[in-house]
Amino acid sequence: MASERLAIRGGQPVRTDPWPRWPIWGPEEERALLEALHSGVWGVGGERVPELERRFAELHRARYAVACCNGTVALQIALVAAGIEAGDEVITSPYTFMATALAILAVGAVPVFVDVERETHNLDPALIDAAVTPRTRAIMPVHIGGRPADMDRILEAARRRGLVVIEDAAQGWLAAWRGTPVGALGDAGTFSFQSSKNLSGGEGGLVLTNDEALYQRAWSYHNCGRLPGGAWYDHATAGLNYRLGEFQAAVLLAGLARLPEQQERRRAAMDALDDALRAIDGLSTPRADDRITAHACHIYMVRLEPEAFPQGKQKIVDALQAEGIPAHPGYTTPLYRQGFWRWFSERKVGTGDLRWKDVFPRPPEDYDLPVTEELCRTTIWLKQDLLLAGPEAMADVGRAFGKVLGAARAGEL
Ligand SMILES: Cc1ncc(COP(=O)(O)O)c(C=O)c1O
Repeated sequence: MASERLAIRGGQPVRTDPWPRWPIWGPEEERALLEALHSGVWGVGGERVPELERRFAELHRARYAVACCNGTVALQIALVAAGIEAGDEVITSPYTFMATALAILAVGAVPVFVDVERETHNLDPALIDAAVTPRTRAIMPVHIGGRPADMDRILEAARRRGLVVIEDAAQGWLAAWRGTPVGALGDAGTFSFQSSKNLSGGEGGLVLTNDEALYQRAWSYHNCGRLPGGAWYDHATAGLNYRLGEFQAAVLLAGLARLPEQQERRRAAMDALDDALRAIDGLSTPRADDRITAHACHIYMVRLEPEAFPQGKQKIVDALQAEGIPAHPGYTTPLYRQGFWRWFSERKVGTGDLRWKDVFPRPPEDYDLPVTEELCRTTIWLKQDLLLAGPEAMADVGRAFGKVLGAARAGEL
């Protein structure tokens, strides 16, 4: 029996109603921006950045926060503050944004990739031990899509090996593992407020920690090497200027007030997606895990059964988009296959003739991690702005997936 005609083939789309726009703002942001403008203090000495640090730390039950200009440098600051240096190895995930690896390289350290778990898209703790060498100093789990990584096993492996843990929580605002918010579960954690994020200042980032000495080093590194309470032109460490400005802090504070309600809406949408998509042949929905007491709901990830859809995910994503569903192919290339490695490999390390390719314990292009490879081929993303449409709209997503995957299985795509 022929399936319903796909919109991409000229049929009726499942949905024509618009999706929520992102970012969302209102009189609160307008007022906050004008107040920042009229304060005449747009940067150093302003009250909004410290207020953001206080509120964000409080919400995540962390003792210290350092706000900074983006999530990439937040990682860099956390790595430096945690004492990671040239030649140190940092174990991390290859199913993530390039900044995770680039920040490690930026401090002269070397990312070592271990594969992820198929059901969670997060670093597989079972593979950590085999990746540890005498040069390993840190583990950097990524709470990808806002789903906390298995912090019990990651922290346990780190403790056993004497390693530092820095959480890349760029997508993890308000996510919690066994009731404790992510970010300060390890030694430090970092967040992004870039424009696509659930909490956006256009750009922006933040480091959380419970460790006072690490906080002081982070603060110094993000503020030109000054020391907290020190004189303006005293630069005790070799820091750079990674400070956040008052306008961004103003918008972020207004956004922070909206965040809990928006997260509830996204959470309800994710539950509705579980119901709408669970029964569709050839599709896997996220695995439930009682230890995840709050998901940050940045991305809802579904997996296509690799054998069921030989046409590949891009064709399916195109067909879903034609049905009015803003599905996204997500990461399609494991991080170790990105072009920047070739560029980096040829760069000199220090003053001698040594180049990065001589330092990598394993040439990045030699990695072939099966689960990451598979997920890059099979995972489709539904992002936070779609989730804001609430549970009712998720029925349209379910109908569109059913229609498109039905047609794909019938060889009509
Ligand atoms: C997992 C992850 N790490 C790091 C970053 C870097 O954050 P930013 O874009 O704010 O520099 C991002 C955001 O894009 C991210 O998604």
